[in-house]
Amino acid sequence: MAKKQVKSKERVRDHGEVFTNEREVNAMLDLVKNETENIESTFLEPACGDGNFLSEILKRKLNIVSSRYKNHLDDYEMYSIIAVTSLYGVDILQDNVEACIERLFNIWNEEYTKILKSSSSDKAREACRYILTKNILCGDALTMLKNDGKPIVFAEWKFVNGTMLKRRDYELSRILAAEQIVATEEINLFNFDEEVEKQTRESLDVPIKEYPLTDYREVQKYE
Ligand SMILES: C[S@@+](CC[C@H](N)C(=O)[O-])C[C@H]1O[C@@H](n2cnc3c(N)ncnc32)[C@H](O)[C@@H]1O
Repeated sequence: MAKKQVKSKERVRDHGEVFTNEREVNAMLDLVKNETENIESTFLEPACGDGNFLSEILKRKLNIVSSRYKNHLDDYEMYSIIAVTSLYGVDILQDNVEACIERLFNIWNEEYTKILKSSSSDKAREACRYILTKNILCGDALTMLKNDGKPIVFAEWKFVNGTMLKRRDYELSRILAAEQIVATEEINLFNFDEEVEKQTRESLDVPIKEYPLTDYREVQKYE
């Protein structure tokens, strides 16, 4: 049965909540098909609801992970986690955020358990869930503030030396400001001061927190 696009009149009135159906989601994702099939390409859905876009992207990425690594179980586990680290979402409603995290976790866990069977581990499950709770956040995508008034902060996850993971946290407003500079440079090729642009970009590219390098199955031990 097709999923309902509207939960209540009040939610439509107060938050413009009308969910996109699967056919439209996939048609839109097909416009950037290569990126959706690149395990590491990052996506941010700024009004993610319960994750209609993110869940389809995760399924596409996991299909690629499976086609490449289903006979190499350690690699399957690590690359499927890399796919999870690449997805970000914000929604203003806490219940949507929780539903989105649960949905993405279940998609990942179902595939992971099917492929790894008795080699699957609860540590990897915990790591996956933890990463999702850092990547799918409750807040206002327009003000880029959380509901408590503090800035929305996203974690960047970088794999180093195989299975080691480095986490750096950045404010969303600064990530987007840096992206804006790159976009402006591309449009304005002949009309910008390269040195000033470079310095501005570098000043924005400063994490607010760095975490120790750790095995990816143990990221949850740092807060
Ligand atoms: C039209 S629905 C789209 C949901 C999902 N992206 C989809 O396509 O199915 C809009 C979503 O944006 C959320 N929303 C409304 N205002 C927002 C804001 N300022 N910041 C973040 N999310 C917001 C709503 O709670 C709702 O889930």
